[in-house]
Amino acid sequence: MSIAILFASKHGTTEKVASQIATLLEDHKPIILNLKKNPMPDLSAYNTVLIGGSIYAGGIQKRITVLIKENAEVLLQKKIALFLCCMNEKEAENEFNTAYPDWLRSHSVSNKIIGGEYNLDKMNFIEKFLVRKISGTKTSISKIDQTKIVELVKDLNTKP
Ligand SMILES: Cc1cc2nc3c(=O)[nH]c(=O)nc-3n(C[C@H](O)[C@H](O)[C@H](O)COP(=O)(O)O)c2cc1C
Repeated sequence: MSIAILFASKHGTTEKVASQIATLLEDHKPIILNLKKNPMPDLSAYNTVLIGGSIYAGGIQKRITVLIKENAEVLLQKKIALFLCCMNEKEAENEFNTAYPDWLRSHSVSNKIIGGEYNLDKMNFIEKFLVRKISGTKTSISKIDQTKIVELVKDLNTKP
């Protein structure tokens, strides 16, 4: 497999997850691509593309939505896996289904909600205020679900 792992991340959690996935796939020498640095990467060199983003105020990063829209035909010719970082467990499934379009979710070999983190050190005043209001937390929290990461990699390695 020639693998590209595309991600968007504001406070570093999705970036961390992308790199954990890359470590588990290291035999395939995956390339990690930060969409903030390169919003429209050339995907022609890869037969497998992983896409990961995170949720803010109910929605995924716009650069993920734009990338998917602009590359729809290309993505349908690749093996795909989708992952999402978010903290609202009750809304996570809805958030996932809103973040990634139907046609891509059904084409994908793996769709995983990975959990997330509140990294208070990386938040501005307003974000800290909002997180405190939403979750009541005054300290950083990490709820990355390692089993979902392992499942995603297993799906990639076993499903055609
Ligand atoms: C201001 C703010 C708003 C958020 N809104 C949501 C939300 O609506 N739903 C949710 O599930 N998680 C929400 N989260 C949690 C993020 O998705 C979580 O922190 C994630 O790990 C961020 O990943 P990133 O650092 O890669 O951007 C929010 C976090 C912040 C800081």
